[in-house]
Amino acid sequence: IGKEYIFFEEIDSTNIYAKENNLNEGTVIVAETQTKGKGRKGRKWISTKGKGLYFSTVLKPEININQLLRFSLIFPYSVYETIKQENLTPKIKWPNDIYLSNRKVSGILMETDIEGSEIKKLVVGIGINVNHNIEDLNEIKDIATSLFLEKGQNIDRKRFFIRLLQNIEKNYFQFLENKLNPIEKVEENLLWKDEEVKILDGNKEIKGILKGLDNQGGIILQIGNNLESFYSGDLSLRKT
Ligand code: ATP
Ligand code: BTN
Repeated sequence: IGKEYIFFEEIDSTNIYAKENNLNEGTVIVAETQTKGKGRKGRKWISTKGKGLYFSTVLKPEININQLLRFSLIFPYSVYETIKQENLTPKIKWPNDIYLSNRKVSGILMETDIEGSEIKKLVVGIGINVNHNIEDLNEIKDIATSLFLEKGQNIDRKRFFIRLLQNIEKNYFQFLENKLNPIEKVEENLLWKDEEVKILDGNKEIKGILKGLDNQGGIILQIGNNLESFYSGDLSLRKT
Protein backbone atom coordinates (compact mmCIF):
# COMPACT_ATOMS: atom_id res chain seq x y z
CA ILE A 1 0.00 0.00 0.00
CA GLY A 2 1.40 3.36 -1.03
CA LYS A 3 3.89 2.00 -3.58
CA GLU A 4 2.05 4.12 -6.12
CA TYR A 5 1.29 7.50 -4.74
CA ILE A 6 -0.53 10.49 -6.23
CA PHE A 7 -0.30 13.87 -4.56
CA PHE A 8 -2.52 16.93 -5.01
CA GLU A 9 -2.18 20.36 -3.44
CA GLU A 10 -5.94 20.66 -3.89
CA ILE A 11 -8.61 18.32 -5.16
CA ASP A 12 -12.38 18.00 -4.83
CA SER A 13 -12.17 14.72 -2.92
CA THR A 14 -9.55 11.98 -2.90
CA ASN A 15 -12.39 9.44 -2.77
CA ILE A 16 -13.95 10.83 -5.93
CA TYR A 17 -10.58 10.67 -7.71
CA ALA A 18 -10.03 7.09 -6.58
CA LYS A 19 -13.49 6.07 -7.76
CA GLU A 20 -13.31 7.74 -11.12
CA ASN A 21 -9.87 6.59 -12.17
CA ASN A 22 -8.63 3.15 -12.98
CA LEU A 23 -5.92 2.70 -10.38
CA ASN A 24 -3.90 -0.28 -9.28
CA GLU A 25 -4.57 -1.86 -5.95
CA GLY A 26 -2.74 -0.10 -3.14
CA THR A 27 -2.49 3.25 -4.90
CA VAL A 28 -2.69 6.08 -2.39
CA ILE A 29 -4.16 9.47 -3.29
CA VAL A 30 -3.29 12.30 -0.92
CA ALA A 31 -4.29 15.94 -0.87
CA GLU A 32 -3.21 18.93 1.19
CA THR A 33 -6.80 20.13 1.05
CA GLN A 34 -10.14 19.06 -0.42
CA THR A 35 -12.80 21.40 -1.70
CA LYS A 36 -15.49 18.72 -1.50
CA GLY A 37 -14.32 16.42 1.27
CA LYS A 38 -17.11 13.90 1.82
CA GLY A 39 -18.44 12.24 4.93
CA ARG A 40 -21.12 9.61 4.99
CA LYS A 41 -24.60 10.32 3.64
CA GLY A 42 -23.51 13.35 1.66
CA ARG A 43 -22.19 15.17 4.70
CA LYS A 44 -19.04 17.16 4.27
CA TRP A 45 -15.58 16.65 5.70
CA ILE A 46 -13.75 19.84 6.60
CA SER A 47 -10.26 19.58 5.13
CA THR A 48 -8.24 22.53 6.39
CA LYS A 49 -5.23 23.07 4.18
CA GLY A 50 -1.91 21.74 5.41
CA LYS A 51 -3.25 20.71 8.80
CA GLY A 52 -4.61 17.25 8.34
CA LEU A 53 -4.28 14.00 6.51
CA TYR A 54 -6.75 13.44 3.71
CA PHE A 55 -6.19 10.36 1.62
CA SER A 56 -7.80 7.43 -0.10
CA THR A 57 -6.58 4.04 -1.16
CA VAL A 58 -7.91 1.53 -3.64
CA LEU A 59 -8.25 -2.10 -2.61
CA LYS A 60 -9.49 -5.21 -4.36
CA PRO A 61 -9.60 -7.83 -1.64
CA GLU A 62 -10.82 -11.29 -2.46
CA ILE A 63 -13.49 -11.45 0.16
CA ASN A 64 -17.14 -12.26 0.19
CA ILE A 65 -19.68 -9.43 0.37
CA ASN A 66 -20.94 -10.73 3.69
CA GLN A 67 -17.45 -10.17 5.13
CA LEU A 68 -17.41 -6.53 4.11
CA LEU A 69 -18.47 -5.02 7.43
CA ARG A 70 -15.91 -7.12 9.28
CA PHE A 71 -13.28 -6.16 6.72
CA SER A 72 -14.07 -2.46 6.94
CA LEU A 73 -13.18 -2.47 10.64
CA ILE A 74 -9.50 -2.96 9.72
CA PHE A 75 -9.32 0.75 8.92
CA PRO A 76 -10.66 2.35 12.09
CA TYR A 77 -8.52 -0.16 13.98
CA SER A 78 -5.41 0.91 12.04
CA VAL A 79 -6.09 4.58 12.74
CA TYR A 80 -6.69 3.70 16.38
CA GLU A 81 -3.34 1.87 16.55
CA THR A 82 -1.43 4.73 14.98
CA ILE A 83 -2.94 7.35 17.29
CA LYS A 84 -2.18 5.09 20.23
CA GLN A 85 1.48 5.13 19.17
CA GLU A 86 1.38 8.86 19.88
CA ASN A 87 0.62 7.98 23.51
CA LEU A 88 -2.99 9.06 23.21
CA THR A 89 -6.01 6.94 24.12
CA PRO A 90 -8.42 6.82 21.19
CA LYS A 91 -11.74 5.01 21.07
CA ILE A 92 -13.47 3.61 18.04
CA LYS A 93 -16.99 4.75 17.32
CA TRP A 94 -18.69 1.98 15.38
CA PRO A 95 -18.49 1.66 12.46
CA ASN A 96 -16.21 4.33 11.08
CA ASP A 97 -14.97 7.07 13.38
CA ILE A 98 -12.17 7.61 15.87
CA TYR A 99 -12.68 9.70 18.96
CA LEU A 100 -10.40 11.33 21.51
CA SER A 101 -11.84 12.84 24.69
CA ASN A 102 -15.33 12.16 23.34
CA ARG A 103 -14.71 14.20 20.21
CA LYS A 104 -14.22 13.12 16.65
CA VAL A 105 -10.63 13.20 15.43
CA SER A 106 -10.93 10.97 12.36
CA GLY A 107 -13.55 9.66 9.99
CA ILE A 108 -13.44 6.92 7.41
CA LEU A 109 -15.53 6.63 4.29
CA MET A 110 -15.46 3.29 2.49
CA GLU A 111 -17.15 3.23 -0.91
CA THR A 112 -17.81 0.02 -2.76
CA ASP A 113 -18.09 -0.91 -6.39
CA ILE A 114 -19.97 -4.19 -6.42
CA GLU A 115 -21.21 -6.15 -9.44
CA GLY A 116 -23.53 -8.99 -8.60
CA SER A 117 -21.76 -10.64 -5.70
CA GLU A 118 -18.30 -9.59 -6.80
CA ILE A 119 -16.39 -6.75 -5.18
CA LYS A 120 -14.79 -4.89 -8.07
CA LYS A 121 -13.14 -2.21 -6.05
CA LEU A 122 -13.15 -0.61 -2.65
CA VAL A 123 -12.15 2.97 -1.99
CA VAL A 124 -11.17 3.64 1.59
CA GLY A 125 -10.92 7.35 2.42
CA ILE A 126 -9.46 8.50 5.70
CA GLY A 127 -9.51 12.00 7.14
CA ILE A 128 -7.59 12.88 10.30
CA ASN A 129 -7.43 16.15 12.18
CA VAL A 130 -3.72 16.30 12.89
CA ASN A 131 -2.57 19.84 13.62
CA HIS A 132 -5.89 21.66 13.41
CA ASN A 133 -6.75 24.38 15.81
CA ILE A 134 -10.37 23.32 16.06
CA GLU A 135 -11.40 26.56 17.80
CA ASP A 136 -11.05 28.30 14.44
CA LEU A 137 -13.51 25.92 12.80
CA ASN A 138 -16.93 27.11 13.87
CA GLU A 139 -18.88 24.32 12.24
CA ILE A 140 -17.18 21.55 14.17
CA LYS A 141 -15.64 23.20 17.20
CA ASP A 142 -18.05 21.57 19.63
CA ILE A 143 -17.79 18.03 18.26
CA ALA A 144 -14.26 17.67 16.92
CA THR A 145 -10.71 17.57 18.17
CA SER A 146 -7.23 17.15 16.70
CA LEU A 147 -4.10 15.22 17.61
CA PHE A 148 -2.37 18.55 18.23
CA LEU A 149 -5.01 19.67 20.73
CA GLU A 150 -4.96 16.37 22.59
CA LYS A 151 -1.20 16.06 22.68
CA GLY A 152 -0.38 19.71 23.25
CA GLN A 153 2.21 19.67 20.50
CA ASN A 154 2.39 19.59 16.75
CA ILE A 155 2.64 16.21 15.09
CA ASP A 156 4.95 15.45 12.18
CA ARG A 157 2.34 14.63 9.55
CA LYS A 158 4.74 12.71 7.34
CA ARG A 159 5.95 10.44 10.10
CA PHE A 160 2.38 9.83 11.26
CA PHE A 161 1.24 9.08 7.72
CA ILE A 162 4.03 6.56 7.11
CA ARG A 163 3.20 4.74 10.34
CA LEU A 164 -0.47 4.69 9.46
CA LEU A 165 0.16 3.21 6.00
CA GLN A 166 2.43 0.59 7.58
CA ASN A 167 -0.26 -0.33 10.09
CA ILE A 168 -2.94 -0.53 7.40
CA GLU A 169 -0.77 -2.77 5.27
CA LYS A 170 0.14 -5.02 8.20
CA ASN A 171 -3.48 -5.35 9.31
CA TYR A 172 -4.75 -5.88 5.77
CA PHE A 173 -2.39 -8.79 5.13
CA GLN A 174 -2.93 -10.25 8.59
CA PHE A 175 -6.66 -10.14 7.95
CA LEU A 176 -6.31 -11.94 4.61
CA GLU A 177 -4.19 -14.60 6.36
CA ASN A 178 -6.79 -14.96 9.08
CA LYS A 179 -4.36 -13.72 11.71
CA LEU A 180 -6.26 -10.60 12.69
CA ASN A 181 -9.79 -10.41 13.96
CA PRO A 182 -10.74 -6.74 13.62
CA ILE A 183 -14.00 -7.36 15.46
CA GLU A 184 -12.12 -8.26 18.61
CA LYS A 185 -9.82 -5.25 18.25
CA VAL A 186 -12.67 -2.82 17.74
CA GLU A 187 -14.68 -4.31 20.59
CA GLU A 188 -11.75 -3.88 22.98
CA ASN A 189 -11.59 -0.19 22.18
CA LEU A 190 -15.22 0.60 21.54
CA LEU A 191 -16.55 4.07 22.35
CA TRP A 192 -19.58 4.10 24.71
CA LYS A 193 -19.32 0.39 25.59
CA ASP A 194 -21.85 -0.50 28.31
CA GLU A 195 -23.37 2.97 28.07
CA GLU A 196 -26.82 3.93 26.87
CA VAL A 197 -26.80 4.92 23.21
CA LYS A 198 -29.27 5.42 20.41
CA ILE A 199 -29.22 4.31 16.83
CA LEU A 200 -30.62 6.57 14.15
CA ASP A 201 -32.10 4.84 11.14
CA GLY A 202 -33.84 7.39 8.95
CA ASN A 203 -36.46 8.87 11.26
CA LYS A 204 -36.40 5.86 13.55
CA GLU A 205 -34.55 6.01 16.82
CA ILE A 206 -33.66 2.92 18.85
CA LYS A 207 -32.29 3.17 22.38
CA GLY A 208 -30.29 0.54 24.20
CA ILE A 209 -27.12 -0.33 26.06
CA LEU A 210 -24.14 -0.88 23.77
CA LYS A 211 -22.84 -4.35 24.61
CA GLY A 212 -20.26 -4.99 21.91
CA LEU A 213 -19.90 -6.47 18.43
CA ASP A 214 -21.29 -9.69 17.01
CA ASN A 215 -19.38 -12.09 14.79
CA GLN A 216 -20.22 -10.21 11.61
CA GLY A 217 -19.09 -6.86 12.94
CA GLY A 218 -22.55 -5.52 13.74
CA ILE A 219 -23.20 -3.84 17.08
CA ILE A 220 -25.19 -5.47 19.82
CA LEU A 221 -27.64 -3.39 21.83
CA GLN A 222 -29.39 -4.58 24.93
CA ILE A 223 -32.96 -3.40 24.62
CA GLY A 224 -34.94 -4.30 27.71
CA ASN A 225 -34.01 -7.91 28.29
CA ASN A 226 -33.18 -8.67 24.69
CA LEU A 227 -29.98 -8.45 22.71
CA GLU A 228 -30.33 -7.15 19.18
CA SER A 229 -27.71 -6.74 16.45
CA PHE A 230 -27.55 -3.89 13.94
CA TYR A 231 -25.55 -3.99 10.74
CA SER A 232 -26.26 -1.49 8.05
CA GLY A 233 -23.49 1.03 7.63
CA ASP A 234 -26.19 3.60 7.05
CA LEU A 235 -27.06 3.67 10.72
CA SER A 236 -25.69 6.35 12.97
CA LEU A 237 -24.72 5.69 16.54
CA ARG A 238 -25.24 8.50 19.04
CA LYS A 239 -24.90 9.04 22.76
CA THR A 240 -28.26 9.48 24.48
P1 ATP B 1 -22.19 8.73 11.65
O1 ATP B 1 -22.42 8.07 12.95
O2 ATP B 1 -23.34 8.58 10.72
O3 ATP B 1 -20.88 8.38 11.04
P2 ATP B 1 -21.25 11.43 11.94
O4 ATP B 1 -21.91 12.63 12.50
O5 ATP B 1 -19.96 11.03 12.51
O6 ATP B 1 -22.26 10.25 12.01
P3 ATP B 1 -20.26 11.32 9.28
O7 ATP B 1 -21.04 11.45 8.04
O8 ATP B 1 -19.60 10.04 9.60
O9 ATP B 1 -21.22 11.73 10.45
O10 ATP B 1 -19.18 12.44 9.30
C1 ATP B 1 -19.43 13.71 8.81
C2 ATP B 1 -19.65 14.63 9.96
O11 ATP B 1 -18.39 14.84 10.60
C3 ATP B 1 -20.13 15.98 9.57
O12 ATP B 1 -21.51 16.06 9.65
C4 ATP B 1 -19.47 16.91 10.58
O13 ATP B 1 -20.33 17.09 11.68
C5 ATP B 1 -18.27 16.15 11.06
N1 ATP B 1 -17.03 16.68 10.53
C6 ATP B 1 -16.77 17.24 9.34
N2 ATP B 1 -15.49 17.57 9.21
C7 ATP B 1 -14.91 17.18 10.35
C8 ATP B 1 -13.58 17.22 10.81
N3 ATP B 1 -12.57 17.71 10.09
N4 ATP B 1 -13.36 16.70 12.04
C9 ATP B 1 -14.34 16.17 12.79
N5 ATP B 1 -15.61 16.11 12.40
C10 ATP B 1 -15.88 16.60 11.19
C1 BTN C 1 -17.03 10.44 7.95
O1 BTN C 1 -16.69 10.77 9.07
O2 BTN C 1 -18.19 10.34 7.59
C2 BTN C 1 -15.98 10.06 6.96
C3 BTN C 1 -15.06 11.18 6.61
C4 BTN C 1 -14.04 10.75 5.59
C5 BTN C 1 -13.13 11.83 5.15
C6 BTN C 1 -12.06 11.37 4.22
S1 BTN C 1 -10.86 12.63 3.87
C7 BTN C 1 -10.18 11.69 2.57
C8 BTN C 1 -11.35 11.03 1.86
N1 BTN C 1 -11.90 11.93 0.85
C9 BTN C 1 -13.14 12.29 1.13
O3 BTN C 1 -13.81 13.07 0.44
N2 BTN C 1 -13.54 11.72 2.28
C10 BTN C 1 -12.52 10.88 2.85
